Amino acid sequence: MIAKLAHRILENELAYDVFQTCVGSYKFRERYLESIEIEPDSKILELGCGTGISLNTIRDNEYVGIDLSMRYLEKASRRRDAVQLVNGDVSMSDSYHGINAKKDDVVLALALWHHLDDEQMHQTLRNIYQISEDGVSVYSLDPFFDEKTSISAKWVAMNDRGKNLRSSEHLKEISEAAGFHFSYQISRRELYIPTNVIMCKLVK
Ligand SMILES: C[S@@+](CC[C@H](N)C(=O)[O-])C[C@H]1O[C@@H](n2cnc3c(N)ncnc32)[C@H](O)[C@@H]1O
Repeated sequence: MIAKLAHRILENELAYDVFQTCVGSYKFRERYLESIEIEPDSKILELGCGTGISLNTIRDNEYVGIDLSMRYLEKASRRRDAVQLVNGDVSMSDSYHGINAKKDDVVLALALWHHLDDEQMHQTLRNIYQISEDGVSVYSLDPFFDEKTSISAKWVAMNDRGKNLRSSEHLKEISEAAGFHFSYQISRRELYIPTNVIMCKLVK
């Protein structure tokens, strides 16, 4: 009941940004993005870009964001001029019309996979595979739990809006089936609330 109400509130772009800031999630995104090697002339393709918080860290690179939510995209459009924002479903190939990724370009999927079911995640990765040159990397992060996760962190993960929490083995299986090389890291102390996060790197 409380979780459902919180999920409704988070559909509002302002509430979403306030919540993510308060739990330290945006600071974590900043650290994560700074840890990725992004060349000055790399294009960033962000899947499920939401309100475009990555634009606060990625200030100068060419940027394309795709998201289902028009409200979130409107917020993203106010963060920076000259970005390409697509209102579409990342699992549908027509959302990528005119978009490609060259070797040094970077694809981001931050807190997205757990919002997609297995078929949608597979289709999304196949779409990325089709539009990408060899060597393109996809960086993702998602809430996660395993046998080492505390009860409170597991509760937080289980009450997320995204209902497709996956083990590292499951993420590996879907990524490899779509043609990507898979590696991952788990972090248990990134946010101000108890949360475990799985960070994956997929390379074509
Ligand atoms: C938890 S939010 C993460 C937003 C952003 N990446 C961030 O880190 O703040 C998940 C986002 O994925 C978007 N989303 C979910 N399913 C999608 C789909 N099939 N196609 C495109 N966007 C989707 C939602 O609208 C939402 O903006």
